[in-house]
Amino acid sequence: MQFDEFTGQTVLVTGAASGIGLEQVQAFLAQHARVIAIDIQPRPGVLAATEQLSYQVADVTDVTALTAAIHAGVQQLGTPAIVCNTAGKLDGYRPTLETNLAAWQDLLATDLTSQFIVTNTVLPAMLKQQHGVFVNMASIAGLVAGGGGAAYTAAKHAIIGYTKQLDLDYADQGIRANCIAPGAIETPMNAADFAGDGHMAKWVAGETPAKRWAKPHEVADLTLFLASRHADYIHGTVMPVDGGWLEK
Ligand code: NAI
Repeated sequence: MQFDEFTGQTVLVTGAASGIGLEQVQAFLAQHARVIAIDIQPRPGVLAATEQLSYQVADVTDVTALTAAIHAGVQQLGTPAIVCNTAGKLDGYRPTLETNLAAWQDLLATDLTSQFIVTNTVLPAMLKQQHGVFVNMASIAGLVAGGGGAAYTAAKHAIIGYTKQLDLDYADQGIRANCIAPGAIETPMNAADFAGDGHMAKWVAGETPAKRWAKPHEVADLTLFLASRHADYIHGTVMPVDGGWLEK
């Protein structure tokens, strides 16, 4: 996929060290964008340390560390035109009675509140430029039950609501916000499904109309499109990449 518009633009990606976020970083770097990459893990070897990349290690649940990382990245590469709020984790598919308050709060802080903090940190500068695009990572668990446990499903549903309201409030000032709702994407987050004889991974593929897992680059491809001017009229929506999971 080749776009001509990302050269020299700054993109901010959270969850940049692994899986979907890492693919998004690589996809934007390949389009000659500059990328502020934020993750709790150190820079993975596949990401070369170049002037195109500002890699910041920070825990997105730590407001001070997260805002400091964003400011450091902005100082290096400028205000982002595009934000991919991708950092997230699963909740072990635990029902509410097996979820204690600390686990609930930690999951929401990681998957949901981090998006609010990133947004409120970068949005004022975007508004000055009258341009900004948000690609917020939801999930099929943001639309139906069963893609996670109580906390994950609540967080992903809330991300969709938050993104719609963000778009509604600022669309007339040059801001666009949309969600992606991935289905079964083969990343380290789902490593447990592939463990042993891979029984769980096979079951998930069998339950998916397309009969397979997707690779993270398939989510990165949609991210490029949603961030591009070709998607300029696409506002406040949720785009599934799920092999047909939600059609059932
Ligand atoms: P992953 O585990 O490969 O990557 C997640 C990244 O987020 C990791 O690099 C991790 O270090 C980072 N992260 C987690 N907690 C953090 C924290 N507190 N501070 C900073 N960084 C943190 O997972 P994957 O699959 O790439 O997931 C990315 C996003 O996509 C998540 O929001 C996930 O919920 C969503 N998603 C993934 C699906 C899948 O099948 N893999 C399906 C639907 C949604």
